[in-house]
Amino acid sequence: MDQLTLEDAISKRRSDRAFDDKPLTQPLLHKLLWAAQGITNESGKRTVPSAHALHALHPLRLFVSAGQIEGVAAGTYQVSGDTRELTLHLSGDRRGALQQAALDDQPWIGGATAIITICADMLAASQAFAEQPPYGARGRRYAYIEAGAAAQNIYLQAAAEGLSCALIAGFRDEATADMMQLPLPLEPVIHMCIGWPAEV
Ligand SMILES: Cc1cc2nc3c(=O)[nH]c(=O)nc-3n(C[C@H](O)[C@H](O)[C@H](O)COP(=O)(O)O)c2cc1C
Repeated sequence: MDQLTLEDAISKRRSDRAFDDKPLTQPLLHKLLWAAQGITNESGKRTVPSAHALHALHPLRLFVSAGQIEGVAAGTYQVSGDTRELTLHLSGDRRGALQQAALDDQPWIGGATAIITICADMLAASQAFAEQPPYGARGRRYAYIEAGAAAQNIYLQAAAEGLSCALIAGFRDEATADMMQLPLPLEPVIHMCIGWPAEV
């Protein structure tokens, strides 16, 4: 496929919820993770803007629930800060469980080849901005804004690679955190469902 311009990728960006069974490769997965949180200079700056970055707050954490990724056993993996390493967090296919924790019937969650869940350390984010109004809420607001920027980068990288992608935020927070056995104080914010487009 020819390299897309940024304008092409923005134009092609869509929420596509029908996925093929074809596995993802690890290099492709890493491109998506890099787009979301990759480190892009020697002072630790990232692909996504981050409030309080001078103090290395960086509240986002990525998890990957792998279904069919070549060379990666089904399971949920925590992604290292520089996005290069996956550490097994839970073994076994969790996509169905994440689908069950969704609001409404969203079969594209279970049908995705992989799900990147953008989580946030809301405690650290809230504490960092505790002295600024609206007291207690600013840190959460900033974490949501950062998660949105990370999600958009994943969308654009997926569009550039010809992958299907859909942002899902309609899920029951506690049930999702339980299914993922997220360590406190991490909270799930966004699932990005990824896969090759289904043949039409
Ligand atoms: C905050 C937010 C939450 C969303 N939650 C869901 C969701 O739970 N399930 C879903 O299928 N799509 C969800 N979407 C995707 C929207 O449905 C989609 O962006 C919209 O239909 C526009 O289509 P497009 O992304 O193809 O332009 C969400 C989008 C946003 C921005």
